[in-house]
Amino acid sequence: MTIPTLAAKLLPGLLNLPISQAEWFMSVKIAPSILSADFARLGEEVRALDAAGADFIHIDVMDGHFVPNLTIGPVVVKALRHHSKKPFDVHLMVTPPDAYIESFVAAGADIVTIHVEAGPHLDRSLQLIRSLGRKAGVSLNPATDEQTLAYVLDRVDLILVMSVNPGFGGQVFIPNALDKIARIRAMIGPRNIELEVDGGVDPANAHALVKAGASVLVAGSAVFRSPDYAANIAALR
Ligand code: DX5
Ligand code: ZN
Repeated sequence: MTIPTLAAKLLPGLLNLPISQAEWFMSVKIAPSILSADFARLGEEVRALDAAGADFIHIDVMDGHFVPNLTIGPVVVKALRHHSKKPFDVHLMVTPPDAYIESFVAAGADIVTIHVEAGPHLDRSLQLIRSLGRKAGVSLNPATDEQTLAYVLDRVDLILVMSVNPGFGGQVFIPNALDKIARIRAMIGPRNIELEVDGGVDPANAHALVKAGASVLVAGSAVFRSPDYAANIAALR
C-alpha cells in the first residue's frame, strides 16, 4: 500500500469523514504551470517538478492574440518531452486553435485544452483532438457562462475553469470561480471528466476548490514561490 493510499484509509477516522470524501481529497491532482519556471533551465525545471510529485505538467501556450502575451510553441514542448513521463497538460490560449492542435500532439501533448471563446466550431475542434488519440479539454474564461459546455459534455475529458483572466501568472484569484466549479461538477454528473482550475490557486483556497468539485489544481506562483517544489506541491493537497 502506498503512503497516500494508507493516509486515505486512516484519515477518515481521524477527520470523521466518509472514506470516499477523504480519498477524494487525497487524490486531487496537482498540475504545476511552467509559466512560473526559469525559462533558461526549462528541462531541469520539468525534471524537478516530476521528482517533486507533480501529477501533470501544465504548459501554457499563448499566441499574443487571444491573450496579450507570447510563450511556448510545439518546438519547446518537443524539447521538454524527454524530461518527464508525466502527462503534458497543454493549455492552448490560441485563436483559432485548430491549425496548431496536430503539432502540439506530435510534440508530445497528452491533454490538449482549447478555449470555448477561441473559435466558432468547438465541437469540431474537440473531435479533432480525440481523433488524434489525445484527451480533449475545454476551458472557460472567468466571464463565460458554463452553459456553453452543455452540448460538448460527451466530447471532453477535462474542463478547465479559469479563475483569472488568462495571459499572465501571479494574478489574484476571482472568487466566483468557486460556485462555477460547483455548478459544473453538477453538470458533469457521472461522466469521467477531470475538473481543473487555473489561476491564483494557493494553499489558502485549494481545499475550498476541491470541496466545490475540482479534481485538478493548476498552480504556477504557488509551486515556484520557493525552491522546495515538493513542499509547495504538498501544501496544495
Ligand atoms: C494564466 C495561465 C496559468 C498561470 C497560473 O493564463 O493559464 O496557468 O500560469 O499561474 P498562477 O498560479 O501564478 O496564477
Ligand atoms: Zn494555464
